[in-house]
Amino acid sequence: MSTPLELRGVRHSYGDVEVLHGVDLVLKPGEVTALLGPSGSGKTTLLAVAGGLLRPTSGHVSVFGEDIAGLRLDRVARRVAFILQAGSLIPYLTVEENLLARRVVAGYKITRADRARAADLLGAVDLAAKSHRHPDELSGGERQRACVAQALYTGAPVLLADEPTASLDRVRGRAVMRLLADHARNTSASVLIATHDERALDLVDRTRSIEDGRLLTP
Ligand SMILES: Nc1ncnc2c1ncn2[C@@H]1O[C@H](COP(=O)(O)OP(=O)(O)O)[C@@H](O)[C@H]1O
Ligand SMILES: [Mg+2]
Repeated sequence: MSTPLELRGVRHSYGDVEVLHGVDLVLKPGEVTALLGPSGSGKTTLLAVAGGLLRPTSGHVSVFGEDIAGLRLDRVARRVAFILQAGSLIPYLTVEENLLARRVVAGYKITRADRARAADLLGAVDLAAKSHRHPDELSGGERQRACVAQALYTGAPVLLADEPTASLDRVRGRAVMRLLADHARNTSASVLIATHDERALDLVDRTRSIEDGRLLTP
């Protein structure tokens, strides 16, 4: 089987300032990798390039053997799910509708089973009672958990999570990390988690460190 996600010689510049200086990274099926690095080291940029939200200035990103630059949005959405640092909830949809919307973007029709799965996932992140609220009626931590449920809901085989535990306390942070790890085990998904939260690293399979736009050798 081809590699879920592979970065080769990836560089990225904002204007003429280069912030990723040649990143090579391979994600394996069923494995959770933590990407550790201080603020400003390039974690968010690396995830955005890996998921096709930004184009690398040079180098290549491939998902299951295909260059992401050549894939249509719905095909990328079927393969790669994001938990964005800035959040990704649409303000005028309820929490439940925000989950369903992810499947729509990926080109699926919503079935009764899809609705049941949305309810299950919202239960898993302790939001069952708030599934009909809008994002601005939730706390920061609740919004973050809704974003986690949203990404898991896509069922995509590659999951990229940017600081998914940043606004959560220790217990809820570990619960989210455990959900992501279970997702990897149960669906053979590859999960990459950018974090500087070291409280739950026992739940990941590998760690890679980034400093000033360069991955350190493992
Ligand atoms: N949109 C942008 N325009 C210009 N510079 C940016 C932009 N986003 C990030 N940077 C710079 O790129 C570097 C890496 O940032 P980022 O990827 O956000 O790191 P991290 O997520 O590890 O904090 C930092 O120096 C940051 O200031
Ligand atoms: Mg960041």
